[in-house]
Amino acid sequence: MEQVTIERLGHQGDGIAPGPVFVPGALPGEVVEGVIRGDRMAEPRIVTPVEQRVKAPCRHAKSCGGCQLQHARDDFAAEWKVGVVRQALAAHALDTAFRPIAISPPQSRRRASFSAKRTKKGAQAGFHMKGSDIIVSVPDCLLVQPELTGALPLVEVLAVLGAARKGELSVMVTTSLHGLDVRVSGGKPLDPTEEMQLAELARRHGCARIAWDNTVLTLRPAEQQMGAARVVPPPGAFLQATPQGEAALLAAVREAVGDAGHVVDLFAGSGTFALPLAERARVHAVEGDKAMIAALDKGWRMAQGLRHVTTEARDLFRDPLIDSELSRFDAAVIDPPRAGAEAQIAQLALAKLPKIAHVSCNPVTFARDAAALDLAGYTLDWVQVVDQFRWSTHVELVASFTHR
Ligand SMILES: C[S@@+](CC[C@H](N)C(=O)[O-])C[C@H]1O[C@@H](n2cnc3c(N)ncnc32)[C@H](O)[C@@H]1O
Repeated sequence: MEQVTIERLGHQGDGIAPGPVFVPGALPGEVVEGVIRGDRMAEPRIVTPVEQRVKAPCRHAKSCGGCQLQHARDDFAAEWKVGVVRQALAAHALDTAFRPIAISPPQSRRRASFSAKRTKKGAQAGFHMKGSDIIVSVPDCLLVQPELTGALPLVEVLAVLGAARKGELSVMVTTSLHGLDVRVSGGKPLDPTEEMQLAELARRHGCARIAWDNTVLTLRPAEQQMGAARVVPPPGAFLQATPQGEAALLAAVREAVGDAGHVVDLFAGSGTFALPLAERARVHAVEGDKAMIAALDKGWRMAQGLRHVTTEARDLFRDPLIDSELSRFDAAVIDPPRAGAEAQIAQLALAKLPKIAHVSCNPVTFARDAAALDLAGYTLDWVQVVDQFRWSTHVELVASFTHR
């Protein structure tokens, strides 16, 4: 047994003591005791807890691997997340004003990716246990919208219907305007009788749509509201994690682009920002996934009262919009995947657009992009950190840039 004192929280949510020794479930300032193997104390006993420690609110927290920070007070997690962004910027000698963080409430996640397996008695569905392939049932999960935990019985019967005997089924369930939007992967191919059973299950469990690998059954449109438009994203396509988080991101994006009359939305997805922005501005939406950009276009065509939206399917890593293509816009929104958008940012740097709203889910690549914009004469006006992944270590943000 050894005793160590935690100095800081790592990016995966572990407490870190000198060494470094990684201690899951420990908070900075705490003295913990346990057996250290390699660089890890897997089962620490907390000797002196800090006042930021709370009893995990969810009854599944001990076994379920879904959350990493339920043992910390909300204000601690909030400060830590803002600190992660501040530190990433400081590594490039940048600083700015930080808006108060926007935290999504419990039970607000609109999508859950459940795992399911057949068992001797039937099936087991839920999330993976911490660091294990064992599945724990989470009927009272405090993270996701109640409709999603309500879908666990459906996920179990899906496993009985079509999980391979020893395989694991991945079932992504998303709430939509007209019922559950379900995407199943990793199952065995269904024969026509099983497909009919799938349709019957979908009906009985209130699904709008169910996709079994490439077979898609639509009972009602699996629509998402995006401003005045309604969009049916392709099964499993990217969506912001919570309606509250999406609203906070959108409010910050709106403020950053201001009264720009013509906006380019880069990495536009199915239209989360492009369609609401089209209430006031003309928008050109660019996205790599053809099915998503087609969904955005259809959503715009069916909506009333929006300004003109044009769309383009394009790989923005290999083929970014160049300086001369960007110069016709008054503002850009850019929301790349975790890898950031080095090539596209280099072109935005050359184009010197008056305003840029940069949305990011990775503070490290964001800070790299921010440094490139700073060098090109953009001022980082402010950062809005948005926590739509509460109790996890994910950090999201919107940053406003103005050309000097
Ligand atoms: C973080 S999501 C943001 C989507 C959208 N802005 C939203 O809020 O719903 C990033 C998007 O980038 C797209 N993407 C990933 N790699 C890309 C690439 N190389 N070129 C263009 N788009 C890409 C993904 O399909 C995804 O829709």
